[in-house]
Amino acid sequence: MNYIGSKLKLSSWIEEEVKKVVGSDLSQKVFCDIFAGTGIVGRTFKPHVKQVISNDLEHYSFVLNKNYIENHKAIVDKEKYIEELNSLPLIEDGFIYQNYCMGSGSERQYFSDENGKKNRHHANQNQRVEGE
Ligand SMILES: C[S@@+](CC[C@H](N)C(=O)[O-])C[C@H]1O[C@@H](n2cnc3c(N)ncnc32)[C@H](O)[C@@H]1O
Repeated sequence: MNYIGSKLKLSSWIEEEVKKVVGSDLSQKVFCDIFAGTGIVGRTFKPHVKQVISNDLEHYSFVLNKNYIENHKAIVDKEKYIEELNSLPLIEDGFIYQNYCMGSGSERQYFSDENGKKNRHHANQNQRVEGE
């Protein structure tokens, strides 16, 4: 997932800048990704540090980082889940579409209209996955 404000394109630069300050051996360091969002910053450091702590206010970030940071195992049948989520009907009365997509008139462009219209369903699906 990517959106305005994601540090995806800056992640390697952030890693280099952190190494300039704390040294290049990160193997005994704990990396704290506050305002983790998509988790891209924590994911960049995960292979190199002892531990990543991820924090964010939003549920979407909890779901992403539950996998990207906490999980260490490959997800079996991941294509099945992706296909299931991608085939959900689009809806226009969800929170994300109403508040974060241009098409709703929110004047914000964090997510494409198509992805925003999927979001309420995804929240429900995520709760189901957490409960399993
Ligand atoms: C620009 S976005 C994410 C940036 C993130 N490093 C990335 O690359 O995806 C900022 C994040 O800060 C979170 N946030 C804002 N205020 C917060 C707070 N008081 N405590 C925790 N998270 C907060 C938002 O939920 C949002 O996910």
